[in-house]
Amino acid sequence: MKAGVKVFAPASVANVACGFDILGFALNKPGDEIIARPTESRGLKISKITGDNGKLPYDVGKNTAGFAALKLLEHLDIAGQGIELEIHKKMPFGSGLGSSAASAAGAVVAVNEVLGRPLRREELLPFAVLGEEKADGAYHADNVAPSLLGGLILIRDTDTLDFYRIPTPKGLIATVIYPHIEILTKDARNVIKAEVTLEKHIEQSGNLAALILGMMQSDFDIIAKSLKDSIIEPQRSSLIPFFSEVQDAAMNAGALGCSISGAGPSIFALSMNSVIAEKVGKDMTSVLNKEAIHSDLYISPINSEGTIVY
Ligand code: HSE
Repeated sequence: MKAGVKVFAPASVANVACGFDILGFALNKPGDEIIARPTESRGLKISKITGDNGKLPYDVGKNTAGFAALKLLEHLDIAGQGIELEIHKKMPFGSGLGSSAASAAGAVVAVNEVLGRPLRREELLPFAVLGEEKADGAYHADNVAPSLLGGLILIRDTDTLDFYRIPTPKGLIATVIYPHIEILTKDARNVIKAEVTLEKHIEQSGNLAALILGMMQSDFDIIAKSLKDSIIEPQRSSLIPFFSEVQDAAMNAGALGCSISGAGPSIFALSMNSVIAEKVGKDMTSVLNKEAIHSDLYISPINSEGTIVY
């Protein structure tokens, strides 16, 4: 066993407009840091949590990172192994940036490293998804998979976690604005109707298929036509103050498309180069500034590495 391992697990943008629960990409920052180290005492424990304002549980069975790591140890049949985790939250909860997913991804990578890497990175995915389920109450991998593996990831089937890495065009830049309000994923999922009309299904499927095609062919025109959400965004946007004004500002500044990041309140836009991405960010920020809503801005290419071991 290694003496101790520190990892960085990045934030992610889930859904990517038309890919509800099945599409997500990783950002370069923000992200969480997780440290795992072997201990003399038996079993997994969380020894330190910072950056959470005291909100996260130390109970391994209730903590996203702890539960993910526990499920990994159980799978390896070494649940009694002495390991302690430190969780350093470097991004807000309920932000739509995949905060709990990053902690879960970071925990399984850190523990796997401490153990001498018994599993390949891809094999860690189910345990991290179980960890995130603790926070969300729902089983979906569209934040965890990109945070763990990097890139733009399509999850074809959530039950079996059959996923595919989708290439992205050179130059593609994400602008993500996080307005300082909290929306819990559980609450944002509760506002979504269980039924979808055939008309909306056809519209969304066309856009999702074309978005993947546009990404694979590095065709910004196809991406611009298809980066739209006909189903979820209309139901959730009222949870985010001034959403349509921010979206309009992004589109007027030249973004290819703009929608809710994950369950919100963060809003993301994709642009074909960093000059446009910066302008998009500036204009989105000024909408919120005018309304006296504090926000943080992140501008990042699609992160291809996922969780990094220091
Ligand atoms: N796909 C999820 C949702 C991501 O939109 O509810 C948030 O965790």
